[in-house]
Amino acid sequence: MTTIKVALLGFGTVGSSVYQILQSQQSKFERLIGRKVEIVGVLIQDETKQRDIADGILVTSSFEELINVSDIDVIIEAINGIEPGAGYLHKALEKGVHVVTANKELLAHEGKSLRETADTGNAQLKYEAAVAGGVPIIGTLQQLLQVNYISNVEAILNGTSNYILTEIAENKVSFQEALLTAQKLGYAEADPGNDVDGWDAFYKLMILSDLLLGDQPDWTQVTRRGIRGITLADIQAVETAGWRIKHIASLQFNKGKAQLRVEPRAVPQGHSLYEVAGVDNAVAIEGDLAGNLKLQGPGAGALPTASAILEDFVQLYKKSDNRKPVIDTTFSAEDSNRLQDWL
Ligand code: HSE
Repeated sequence: MTTIKVALLGFGTVGSSVYQILQSQQSKFERLIGRKVEIVGVLIQDETKQRDIADGILVTSSFEELINVSDIDVIIEAINGIEPGAGYLHKALEKGVHVVTANKELLAHEGKSLRETADTGNAQLKYEAAVAGGVPIIGTLQQLLQVNYISNVEAILNGTSNYILTEIAENKVSFQEALLTAQKLGYAEADPGNDVDGWDAFYKLMILSDLLLGDQPDWTQVTRRGIRGITLADIQAVETAGWRIKHIASLQFNKGKAQLRVEPRAVPQGHSLYEVAGVDNAVAIEGDLAGNLKLQGPGAGALPTASAILEDFVQLYKKSDNRKPVIDTTFSAEDSNRLQDWL
């Protein structure tokens, strides 16, 4: 039985959670996949920083060293920005190494060419974690796309923005205070301007556009507005009318024309996104056959994002569609608490 060798790119909030889960739940992955899973290397930026990584695992700031040191089967990427990640992922996919990524900015810019490289290298590129954190929207759309005509998607795709709007409305905290808490909780981007100026939701919408329309619109034609500047007074004014402000990414497709927008909007009670609070993301979809669907759950944070990454990872090696029961009878609530404590 050959071992699946995994390398992690990045050891921040998400990368270190993936590491911890893979290391502490090895028997679960072995049972799911039928092979042992071993983390063989971790790519980091600063080699002088202390990290809780087991002896025997290569910890390096050199991607070349990492990719050449052993026959890596899978790269799990959780770093920020387009470069150097894009270069790394192209090299890996060319070599036939599967990639699981959470990097939305990179996918929005390079998704198409990465998919082409994956085809050339006969490797798989998976990215559930890049959109809506732990909410399995990519897999759902891939499945629905087979027979449904999807004309409308309305979504909350940035957990930080939704958290800030909720905190201001419910606890009357200032924008800055709410943002600071979102950063402490590991929700915000390294540059939180990406969250509050709408870029993060924009990149995620472009990924959905690739998936739903097979292409992206001209970015300059897409409205992109963030929540920066929204005050308690704005929120209260809307609330007196029974409405709420939500940061909404939308994609409407009608008679061959697509309209995509990212903006704060006031929505009335009864709207599918009205009740979505805190760090939750939600995606409301209109399918011609399936009708109106909504998926909702934590859209940011260490464990939800790690969950999406590891579900993708397991999918790479799923042998057939005949799912066996997957509840691990050896895994207890105490194990789960230990993981929460560690985080
Ligand atoms: N900063 C992002 C958010 C992280 O708040 O949604 C998850 O992509």
